[in-house]
Amino acid sequence: MKIIRSLSEMSGHARERREQGCKIALVPTMGYLHLGHLSLMRIARQYAEEVVTSIFVNPIQFGPREDLSSYPRDPERDQKLAAEAGTATLFIPADNDMYPQGFQSFVDVEKITQGLCGRSRPGHFRGVATVVAKLFNIVQPHYAVFGQKDAQQVAVIRRMVADLNMPVEIIIAPIVREPDGLAMSSRNVYLSGQERQDALVLYRSLAMAQEMIQQGEREPQAVISRMTGLISAVPSSRIDYIEIVDAASLEPVQRLAGELLLALAVYIGRTRLIDNCLVTVEKEVAAL
Ligand code: PAJ
Repeated sequence: MKIIRSLSEMSGHARERREQGCKIALVPTMGYLHLGHLSLMRIARQYAEEVVTSIFVNPIQFGPREDLSSYPRDPERDQKLAAEAGTATLFIPADNDMYPQGFQSFVDVEKITQGLCGRSRPGHFRGVATVVAKLFNIVQPHYAVFGQKDAQQVAVIRRMVADLNMPVEIIIAPIVREPDGLAMSSRNVYLSGQERQDALVLYRSLAMAQEMIQQGEREPQAVISRMTGLISAVPSSRIDYIEIVDAASLEPVQRLAGELLLALAVYIGRTRLIDNCLVTVEKEVAAL
């Protein structure tokens, strides 16, 4: 596996591979890799001979009171895991090269960044869209792979690519979970033993919601109330949001019908965790 730190070397290497007729798939990450990230690389490998994985803890997507300085890092382990999962090139740019003195251009995806995580993390998706646009320009991949774990991020990237005519195909990978259901996340390392147990309530609440909908519940508020009750019973929890939205527009729905995204963000102790699931509800046929 090749490791590239320089932006111009990355662009040059990718150009060479394109000229050789190789397809390129990019997997953007912030490192501290886990099986969720590795699944993205394996999927990328199905689309392209050249899998480029980037590792960059992007400072502009962290708020002033967020965990930029303590974000977990383990570069050596990351290199080993990325190579094993089929990464051909690991791109590890430096902060100063990505954001040199005088940097002042940002990508702002407007409406769908306002709700869900955008409400409590103002500026977060502006940082994400900007760094992903930069990575697309540096690598110019045919494909880019993102995880459904960050459902709003997926919607924002799709919108940006469509709105700005970016010549890249976005591939979405399913959420990878621990055997007990907890969605894998680099931030799970922050959880104490008890909190790790408590964190299961996110997955449990989604499973319960799915069950309610399957049993015929069609009132979003009824589902959200039950989820709120289940989660609030865990003393270490603090709910940021629980929402049921249209899967494409991310707008809240009045009634449970069509393609829905059930999404939540919950603090367990000091750690903010997110999880979600997609649910399809057949449209009701009006009674004759
Ligand atoms: P990071 O949190 O490192 O995640 C990198 C990619 O891995 C994202 O596409 C994310 O959705 C995916 N991922 C994380 N956990 C997953 C899981 N349990 N199952 C499936 N996929 C999972 O997301 C970011 O970094 C950054 O915002 C980034 C896109 C790199 C821009 O800085």
